[in-house]
Amino acid sequence: MRDKKIQDLIAAEEKRQREGLELIPSENYVSRDVLNAIGSVFTNKYSEGFPGKRYYGGQINTDKVEQLAIDRAKILFGSDHANVQSHSGAPANEAVYYAWVEPGETIMGMELSHGGHLTHGRPGTMPAKIFNFVRYGMKDVETGEIDYDQMLQTAKKTKPRIIIAGFSSYPRELDYKKFVAIGNEVGAVLMADMAHIAGLIAAKALANPLDAGFQVMTTTTHKTLRGPRGALICSNGTVSNPFQPVDKKLTNLPTLIDRAVFPGIQGGPHMHTIAAKAVTFGEAMKPEFKVYARQVLKNSKKLADELMKRGFKLVTNGTDNHMMVADVKASFGIDGKVAEEVLDKIGLTLNKQIIPDDPLPPYKPSGIRLGTPAITTRGLKEADMTQIAEWMSQAIKHRRDDKILNRLSKEVKEFCLKFPLPSDR
Ligand SMILES: Cc1ncc(COP(=O)(O)O)c(C=O)c1O
Repeated sequence: MRDKKIQDLIAAEEKRQREGLELIPSENYVSRDVLNAIGSVFTNKYSEGFPGKRYYGGQINTDKVEQLAIDRAKILFGSDHANVQSHSGAPANEAVYYAWVEPGETIMGMELSHGGHLTHGRPGTMPAKIFNFVRYGMKDVETGEIDYDQMLQTAKKTKPRIIIAGFSSYPRELDYKKFVAIGNEVGAVLMADMAHIAGLIAAKALANPLDAGFQVMTTTTHKTLRGPRGALICSNGTVSNPFQPVDKKLTNLPTLIDRAVFPGIQGGPHMHTIAAKAVTFGEAMKPEFKVYARQVLKNSKKLADELMKRGFKLVTNGTDNHMMVADVKASFGIDGKVAEEVLDKIGLTLNKQIIPDDPLPPYKPSGIRLGTPAITTRGLKEADMTQIAEWMSQAIKHRRDDKILNRLSKEVKEFCLKFPLPSDR
């Protein structure tokens, strides 16, 4: 690359990624093939429209790429349709809202501090200005059990047009059948936002909400799915010409969603990213990906156990998926910001996190959130989880002792260099 400044920053970022352990549960490492697709000449192409129906010429290759991505996504998640154009998780969720809900109508999502995502109606966001959001949450934060009775009562009272199952900081499995029963009783569309766990669903390591009767599933492609930054919307129903308006009927959801994405909220699709999504879905169909997903879960359980042995109080006292949330205020009397910063010093990257009904503010919350998708891609196994838990415990205990922190940092770096990045292989 001739731009020396950017080349140096890329090299520095590669070094940072190589020499540290990535524990942020929404991050991962893509393969060289995915990187090559993102960096390809498809970035040069405008392709407004959908395969076979475009506003620009020269689509002989883009049509094939997008169709391949759609076909693979449908097989992977067992849906009637897939829209692969959404630029990211937030616009994917917004597209579903705009497809089905009118301004002022109600959408139900998980309480944000209990694990729901900002796009599920955080005050101040555009969706929250347009729609009325109501909440459900955990009945018991010690087990993570959702309060399905309260969910039904609220749904009966507020008549949501969509009920969202999905989270960014909830470590347990949801009971999708209960969501479907409640949604059917009040006439709501069931939407699963599986941004965090779609890779585990694709590998059949966790349950698929579409199998339980959900009509829509949105996901990012860059977390457990291990693809480029982007999103995917799978839906069930009849697929018809996206250029023709259709009635707002359940069976038309796929077309309503396509139209909400383009021209509803986006312009030209990012074809280089769609090519990388196609590569990602192809990789996720391979037997090796099933092995990967199972190992993510084994590592996560082991890391949770080892942390709890060392005095970390985990929200819901464990995990069923790839992530865990630790209440470091209750465990060690420090806030999540302090924990994040001290762990960063030794090369362990994770994020501060609000815990259920957190008395502390989001910028200095009571918790941290961590997970195993990226370190599992790197090749780490259960035995390595014991070592990570020990480093975390030591760093927090000796957070004011620079000598000890320097030693731990060296140990982490030496350990990391034994595990090359997938793009180095
Ligand atoms: C559950 C959930 N939905 C949506 C998003 C938004 O995705 P993006 O950051 O790609 O817009 C996230 C991101 O973390 C998420 O966790």
